[in-house]
Amino acid sequence: MIAVVGAGIAGLTAALSAVQEDPRTEVTVLAKGTVRQSNTWLAQGGIAAVVPVAAAPGDTAAAHAADTLAAGAGRCDADAVQVLCGAGGEQISRLLDLGTPFDRDPSGALALGREAAHSARRILHVNGDSTGAGIAAALLRAVAAEPRITLTEHAFTAGLLLDAGVVTGVDVLRNGVRSVLAADAVLLAAGGAGALYTHTTNPDSATGDGVALAAGAGAAVRDLEFFQFHPTSLDVPGNPLISEAVRGEGAVLRNAAGERFLLECRNAHPDAELAPRDVVSRAVSAYLQDSGERCVWLDATGIAAARGTGYLAGRFPGLDAMTRSHGLDWEQDLLPVVPAAHYWMGGVATDLRGRTTVPGLYAAGECACTGVHGANRLASNSLLEGLVFGARAGAAAAADSRAGAVPRVLSGDFPVAGRAEQVPSAPPDGSRGEPAFSRAALQELMSAQAGVLRNADGLAAAAAAVARWHCGTAGTATLQGTKGSGSQGQPIRQMRVLEDANLLTCAGLLLAAALRRTESVGAHYRSDAAAGTAGTAGSTLNLLS
Ligand code: SIN
Repeated sequence: MIAVVGAGIAGLTAALSAVQEDPRTEVTVLAKGTVRQSNTWLAQGGIAAVVPVAAAPGDTAAAHAADTLAAGAGRCDADAVQVLCGAGGEQISRLLDLGTPFDRDPSGALALGREAAHSARRILHVNGDSTGAGIAAALLRAVAAEPRITLTEHAFTAGLLLDAGVVTGVDVLRNGVRSVLAADAVLLAAGGAGALYTHTTNPDSATGDGVALAAGAGAAVRDLEFFQFHPTSLDVPGNPLISEAVRGEGAVLRNAAGERFLLECRNAHPDAELAPRDVVSRAVSAYLQDSGERCVWLDATGIAAARGTGYLAGRFPGLDAMTRSHGLDWEQDLLPVVPAAHYWMGGVATDLRGRTTVPGLYAAGECACTGVHGANRLASNSLLEGLVFGARAGAAAAADSRAGAVPRVLSGDFPVAGRAEQVPSAPPDGSRGEPAFSRAALQELMSAQAGVLRNADGLAAAAAAVARWHCGTAGTATLQGTKGSGSQGQPIRQMRVLEDANLLTCAGLLLAAALRRTESVGAHYRSDAAAGTAGTAGSTLNLLS
């Protein structure tokens, strides 16, 4: 039996591929909330793919790969990029076979949108801006029709079981009750960690569980300093995303004076609103810091003027309803937007088949890191990543755990940092005036010191605070108290405590990685450092070694 942790696009695809790979394999998919509580379900803009029969004139998988490599600021794993972009056509065909209702143009061909840093229109979408939900619904139908896959909601994976260094199952918390699920392999597809930050486009459930579970089992993690901020989340509670596809259609960013400041700011990029995401987020954050303004303004009124009344509502029905629910008419009003934590490029180090450094443990999707995104992910490559690497990881987990198979792991030359780097045994001084741990306090700290703009002093202070919190009641002590039970009647509180511990683990790892990388590259911008040179590998560390 294979346990898949997470029911987004990577987890569902992995489950389907595992049963396809081995007719005797059974799979249990564990979703910690409902299947809708995932970044997949929220994904708007689309899925980037070059489908040969439907491609824009001259577009190729090689061009998609070149754009992915360029956006990744020289830090992408080139083999992973080839796998990702080369598989686009096949994956879209598979989704069409499963009944995914991709939008079509009036001629019946697949409709192709544009997003920043893509050299061609190649973004497929469902119902305008509900792409993730459309794909997930098709995958869920396929999962429901497969008797060898069991999908369990509200099942939180509290730990990995290890026997002599091999993963043998998971410790599951469901309705306040802990139980053990033995497995031949465990595949982590647990998504991201946007809950590390105050402003995030992610659901509250994105608490870095996959990275924390893997690190706790001694798996290598990598590139954790690279956390992508999306430039345009609506500046209202919950920070709903305003898809990059809106800028792809022609929306521009303005300051309070109504100026297109991206054209004139420090380090202005010639592509302005359509520059890579890290460039746009950095320019917006620097502008906000310098001006003291609270937000910038997304102007889509030009689209409405050029394409006619009702165009925005037809092309982006979900966004139209969402903005109107906040009293904004985007045909006439500018939308207040701020950068928000969106996607973690780093994660559990894997090979191109999802194998981690720990036997029996696999990872795919946002919680994994093949190096495919380098230091900055190209827009709309994440759904494709979940499909491509989810399928490969599910098949590998099934094949590797066939009776008699020799356990296979990711091997390589991974620099290792000791646990002391993440959680000092003697918390450093300096806690005077520091707030007690709360998730909000952690988010404020991470946003201030480890957000779009960073420097050594801020990172070090944050690392010390996180270490103190981790050593205190919010970390180990409370976690042990929960394990000791007495709290079985409070399942939500119990899960929250475990999530907080995962967030602290991820924060400590991210800060350590950000401190170690003393250059500025991609989404990791150190205001106290020079720009990095292309080609330096991302960082890797192991929590427990
Ligand atoms: C968006 O629609 O802007 C998000 C797409 C992505 O993050 O790739």
